[in-house]
Amino acid sequence: MRDAIEKALEIEGLAIEHYNELIKRVKDVDYTTYDILQDILVEEVKEEQDLEDILARLELREVEEGEEIIEQF
Ligand SMILES: [Fe+2]
Repeated sequence: MRDAIEKALEIEGLAIEHYNELIKRVKDVDYTTYDILQDILVEEVKEEQDLEDILARLELREVEEGEEIIEQF
């Protein structure tokens, strides 16, 4: 589960980089494309944030489960 989320995060990061590059290229040249790419970028950043939140919750749960195991001894 964790590996899949980390891989998805890596892909989101690459997508964000890619859209940032495209935005730089069309800036001051094609305003319509610029706006569309900005909207896509916002969605990609949201997806990245969602994945980071999931990963953080997963890590917290792992820590809590680890503490429970220690308490049993
Ligand atoms: Fe995405």
